[in-house]
Amino acid sequence: MTQSPDASLLTASPWWRPDPGTSLVIQGGCRLTGAYPISGAKNAVLPLMVSALVTPHLVTLHNVPSSLDVAVLANLLQRLGCVLNWSSGRGGLSLTVCADHVHPARIDRDLVVRMRASVLLLGAVLARCGEACLPLPGGDAIGSRGIDFHIAGLRAMGAEIEAGGGMIQARAPNGLHGAEIAFPHVSVGATENLMLAAVLAEGTTTIRNAAREPEIADLAQCLIAMGAAIEGLDTHVLTIHGNRPLTGAVHAVMPDRIELGTMACAAAVTGGELLLENGRRHLLGAAETLLLKAGVALEDVADGVIARRPSGRLNGIMVETQPYPGFATDLQAPVMAMLAVARGRSVITETIFEQRFRHVEELRKMGADITVDGRVASITGVDQLRGARVTATDVRAAAALVLAGLAAEGETVLDGLDHLDRGYDRMAEKLEACGAHIVRSIV
Ligand code: UD1
Repeated sequence: MTQSPDASLLTASPWWRPDPGTSLVIQGGCRLTGAYPISGAKNAVLPLMVSALVTPHLVTLHNVPSSLDVAVLANLLQRLGCVLNWSSGRGGLSLTVCADHVHPARIDRDLVVRMRASVLLLGAVLARCGEACLPLPGGDAIGSRGIDFHIAGLRAMGAEIEAGGGMIQARAPNGLHGAEIAFPHVSVGATENLMLAAVLAEGTTTIRNAAREPEIADLAQCLIAMGAAIEGLDTHVLTIHGNRPLTGAVHAVMPDRIELGTMACAAAVTGGELLLENGRRHLLGAAETLLLKAGVALEDVADGVIARRPSGRLNGIMVETQPYPGFATDLQAPVMAMLAVARGRSVITETIFEQRFRHVEELRKMGADITVDGRVASITGVDQLRGARVTATDVRAAAALVLAGLAAEGETVLDGLDHLDRGYDRMAEKLEACGAHIVRSIV
């Protein structure tokens, strides 16, 4: 008998609490104060979990966020033959992965379509097993999100790849070899996929125009702890000397810079003050300067970042999303929710994903004055948003609508919570502890 999707997630991640059919009910207008712990980064933990596939020795990750994407990937790893062991302590969830026997199992479409990062399995499984077969990945509905760079890079390393009928079949019967790879434009996922494959390839791989998001360096550091030789961390040229003997590793997942920026906006939009525990301002890249310009005060302290709005209304700003250290596309939606109540006009240009404005329609239902022309959104700040029933269409849109609900007058009901749960570790509970009136409920 096949297990239901939720039952199979529970097998791999006993901490996962399936909560189908619920909505988030937010009573707006509460000032947020207190300490909000920033969890391990969603975009770091996923490639880190996959990195366990490149070594037969134990890999332990600390500071693992309890999110749906983590549960889905844990289940995928289990299906590939990994043995997982979870524990929880003061530092949150820890995961130990034993991948001494990996088999290139055919992976179910129902899991892969839930999460685009599942494509990261391709490079690691192919390099480890000599073959891999994966349904085309899913994830957020925010544009075309091709995987052509991943495929071209693996082909340059000697893989034979066929993509068709919704499947990718990859083979490298004689193993992968090092290659010179140059991306036409920066891709976080392709950089990670090829780095994972290159660690097991024979010879040296150079990745030019590599992404330099902090999550890439976090992955590289874990691989280096296993014995991999990787140069060029935090630059656009990564050099990986492959086929070194690898051991296990113990690694703490970096703090989530997207949650950090999002909660700085939440503090500001509610006129509150939050200690964003474990955060550091520099992780925000260009968003730090832009938030300051908008009137959000940010201060590094010993145990995190204090975010607040010193006085009066926030100011409109001009924002353009760019690869790191530019303004993160993942902060675009939450920052837009904040700018919806700022003084004057703001302009946001989305350069990374072509359909990443689906939250605009929902924000409009709450009274926001936003128009979209192609990749450019113009926002005229209103005095007050009002509560409404809205639906999340992707992970970051979900966070934006939570922020709008916190700022609004009256009650907001947010549907589509799978999106929120995919990317955030207990966001509602953590906000409630800071004074928000926010509950999950069947409405
Ligand atoms: C990652 C993040 C996501 C973030 C994004 C950009 C994870 C799990 N997800 O997604 O939260 O919004 O980086 O910072 O880390 N592209 C191609 N061909 C490819 C690969 C990408 O055309 O083979 C395009 C995409 O369509 C997109 C752009 O490149 O327009 C950037 O995508 P990419 O950096 O790969 O994003 P992800 O790794 O999917």
